Parts: sequence; C-alpha cells; structure tokens
Amino acid sequence: TSEQSIYERIGENQLSSIVDRFYHYVSNHPELAPIFPDDLTETARKQKQFLTQFFGGPPLYSQEHGHPMLRARHMPFQITPTRAKRWIECMIRAIDEEPIGEPLRTEMIERLQFTANHMVNSSEPS
Ligand code: HEM
Repeated sequence: TSEQSIYERIGENQLSSIVDRFYHYVSNHPELAPIFPDDLTETARKQKQFLTQFFGGPPLYSQEHGHPMLRARHMPFQITPTRAKRWIECMIRAIDEEPIGEPLRTEMIERLQFTANHMVNSSEPS
C-alpha cells in the first residue's frame, strides 16, 4: 500500500539495475554523453545513493556527501529543456525494463520528471 515508500516497493536490487541501465543509455546518447564523465562508475554509485533517499529509503547520499543541493550541483552543466527531456526518456526506458507495476511506475516517473524539470538551467542554444 502507499504506507510503504517507493524505495521499499521497488527494492535495492531493482533500483540498482535501473540506475546501471540508465547510465548505459546516457553513455550512448549523442545529446547527453558529452556533458558526462567517460567513466560513469562513480556517477552511478552516487545516483544509487541519491535515489535510495529520494524514494524514501535510508539517507545514503547525504551521509556521504552532505545536503544534495541538486540544482546547484548541476549548475556546471548546461541543462537545456531538451536535455531534461532526453534524461527522463533514458530513465523511462531503464524503468520499463523492470517488471514494475502501476501505480508505482507512474509515481516514480512523475517524481523524476518533476526534479528533471527543476534542473533546467539553460535555454536551447540558438
Ligand atoms: C550528477 C546531468 C537530472 C541526480 C550529474 C552530472 C551530470 C548530470 C552531467 C555530473 C556527473 C558526474 O560528474 O559524475 C543531468 C542532466 C539532467 C539531470 C542533463 C537532466 C535534467 C538529474 C535528476 C536527478 C539527478 C532529475 C535526480 C532525480 C544527480 C546526482 C548526481 C548528478 C545525484 C551526482 C551529484 C554529485 O556529484 O554528488 N547530473 N542530471 N540528476 N545528478 Fe544529474
């Protein structure tokens, strides 16, 4: 039921698979790959920590890195509306390869979409 966090409903293993698959798509994406490091091992590790707490699990990210300040941490990168759209598309593809039923799937995607929109810090290059 909705008393359980998203994290509890999805579980550590599925979350980990989603994040690994997500960065596989990112690393092969012509519009996203250029702003990410070549080696995404550390990025994926941090994202697993972050999404664990974002979805109501233990605060693994904050324990190691302090307050997430996500928008500030993304300021060095040009995040255009198109890049935010590509980010969420990669995430939906990664989520949809796990057997996650509704309404959990939509709940996850809506929360991620909201945060992705919030990360936009640049207009499209003209
Ligand atoms: C880090 C891009 C949205 C969570 C990063 C990095 C880039 C990036 C380039 C740096 C990677 C590195 O140096 O290791 C983007 C783009 C987004 C986006 C293009 C499109 C909107 C999001 C969203 C979330 C998120 C929606 C969370 C739900 C994180 C986290 C880190 C990160 C936790 C690691 C921060 C750290 O270094 O501690 N992102 N991001 N990002 N991103 Fe995003």
